[in-house]
Amino acid sequence: MKVLLIGGGGREHAIAEAIVRSPRCEKLYCAPGNAGIAQIAECVPIGVMEFDRQAAFAKEHGIDLVVCSQDDPLCAGLVDTLEAAGLRVFGTRKNAAIIEGSKAFSKNLMKKYGIPTAAYETFTDPAAAISYLRTKAKFPTVLKADGLALGKGVLICQNLEEAEAGVRTIMEDHKFGAAGNEMIIEEFMTGREVSVLAFVDGKHIQLMTSAQDHKRAGDGDTGLNTGGMGTFSPSPFYTAEIDRQARERIYQKTVDAMNAEGRPFKGVLYFGLMMTQDGPKVVEYNTRFGDPETQVILPRMKTDILDVFEAVIDGTLDRIHLEFEDNAAVCVVLASRGYPVKYEKGKIITGLEKFRGREKDGYYCFHAGTKLDGNGHVITNGGRVLGVTAKGRTLKEARANAYEATGWVNFENKYMRSDIGRAIDDI
Ligand code: AMP
Ligand code: GLY
Repeated sequence: MKVLLIGGGGREHAIAEAIVRSPRCEKLYCAPGNAGIAQIAECVPIGVMEFDRQAAFAKEHGIDLVVCSQDDPLCAGLVDTLEAAGLRVFGTRKNAAIIEGSKAFSKNLMKKYGIPTAAYETFTDPAAAISYLRTKAKFPTVLKADGLALGKGVLICQNLEEAEAGVRTIMEDHKFGAAGNEMIIEEFMTGREVSVLAFVDGKHIQLMTSAQDHKRAGDGDTGLNTGGMGTFSPSPFYTAEIDRQARERIYQKTVDAMNAEGRPFKGVLYFGLMMTQDGPKVVEYNTRFGDPETQVILPRMKTDILDVFEAVIDGTLDRIHLEFEDNAAVCVVLASRGYPVKYEKGKIITGLEKFRGREKDGYYCFHAGTKLDGNGHVITNGGRVLGVTAKGRTLKEARANAYEATGWVNFENKYMRSDIGRAIDDI
């Protein structure tokens, strides 16, 4: 098969690695890709939102399958546009991608179908939101902009003053743009978080192995929220009992709810769960692979990813036997010092060759923000630069291996957390 992958981050590098592992892959293109993806695929300079150019390229190059797992293009109708051009596409159509694109939609869906989530109210008027906060809210409380906000549209407010300022930030200053035309105020939940990703073909759902993300910039979960500083998989906190409860109350129920709404869901459905005292509850849905969860999930997947993608498109996922290795993986993100606020780019990265051919030993260096300079050097080009993943028989071993491998690469202002997966020492 000739495959075109849309995107160019660490997640896409991990997807690309899984695709080229398939014996069915004859040629992989990636638009736009990055310096790491360029080592295993042919990168083409077409942006993720340039649907017409993607379609033209795919037709011209006889592409058998287009793959996209990024929220903005999916919510804007990438799949619909490329399907209308006669292409086969793995990804979620616009009318179902709304499950991530609008938090008001997903909260209302959960309420209507009895899927456990935090209690909430929606608002389109800032004065009504403030009046609710003054009379009804308990603190801490959680404010969310309705739309896509690069994972940043969530404010956890400790008191009324912070919450009132938050409403103004979202609805009056429009810090998150149009994403803040509507907002949600919801109950603050406590518990451990886990990400459970699943393939869904419209009717059937098959769960992948669990993973856990570390979102805060600093050790001990301190500092600002980021796009993710590291992950581990599986999550030892995601017990068989929690899995049983989530299967009964959440997974298939969500797929059925989307069908009942006339929005059949195909693609990757990401369940962000909070394991509360009352059992697992949904924090959020995403319509795509997580980043950097994918960097610890796909290296452990044994099933041919192209078989799975095709089964999702054809509605035959029930015939796929989805298998993961019985081991563990840890991904440590190497960022530029100062991320997520202010950081420099353009630093030369050394040592990347040490990862070459090491996939068979369970070591991967996924590129997120990198590019090639004019002299053949790979340079830093973003806040999160690389994701170093290692596998091990246990999480402890995977963690030790991943931290060892973070020393193989270097660049000026390299920064990482030192406690990715540390929570597993507690148990
Ligand atoms: P989201 O973008 O919805 O995933 O929210 C980002 C992060 O905010 C989540 O991963 C949680 O850590 C936190 N969060 C969101 N909603 C809640 C909630 N209702 N209670 C506690 N924490 C939350
Ligand atoms: N790692 C969180 C996300 O992909 O949304």
